[in-house]
Amino acid sequence: MRALIAGNWKMNGLRADAAERFAAFRERAAAATPPCDVLICPPAPLIADAAAALAGSGLLWGGQDCHAEDKGAFTGDVAAPLLADLGCSHVIVGHSERRGGHGESDTVISAKAAAAHRAGLVAIVCLGESAEERAQGRAAAVVASQLAGSLPPSADGANTVVAYEPIWAIGTGNTATPADVAEIHGLLRDELESRLGEAGTAVRLLYGGSVNAANAHELLRVPHVNGALVGGASLKPGDFWTIVEAAPH
Ligand code: PGA
Repeated sequence: MRALIAGNWKMNGLRADAAERFAAFRERAAAATPPCDVLICPPAPLIADAAAALAGSGLLWGGQDCHAEDKGAFTGDVAAPLLADLGCSHVIVGHSERRGGHGESDTVISAKAAAAHRAGLVAIVCLGESAEERAQGRAAAVVASQLAGSLPPSADGANTVVAYEPIWAIGTGNTATPADVAEIHGLLRDELESRLGEAGTAVRLLYGGSVNAANAHELLRVPHVNGALVGGASLKPGDFWTIVEAAPH
């Protein structure tokens, strides 16, 4: 399966910073075709800039969140059809910073993923356990339950990516060990196959949580890891591109 390396800029950067990064990525992609699909998810107001800067580069751009409804009186929210209209290929839903900071439940995330699918977008559905849940030996159960609750009936191998992001590994420098990642990704693959059948084998499984230029090569070779969701390191073009080039060819 061709890997996907996705950069999640979160709420970072101004227009000028973004323009510099877009130009740097474009230049690198033109110099050598990346070994994987490369997706950049800037803050929503910069998506139109991404579309202008990255069109024709072979690089993909996407949103960090969308609303469950296609349109309406939802102040401050972003509609999946608008993301699609801006040329986005993907949208992240259910990031732990949305689950935690905005109280999003599995049900809400499933509805957002369904909205992404209706708009023709690939939904990157995030899940992952807290440090406390892991310490209690509940990581596998928590992740399985989040998967069951967060995937809408419309999910298939082409329109859905699942990102395992243990909360304790996000932005902390504490990456999960390859053994931890292998265990959870193996479980997610089994669950996907039992829920979706053949389509479950085609869903890409990303690992996220302190992926950086030094650890990407090893993490991207863990069984059932089909790419990475990268936060902090995606803001540094050199580091992000090292991660892109670390993807298995
Ligand atoms: P991080 O973030 O790479 O900074 O740990 C990952 C994410 O939250 O997607």
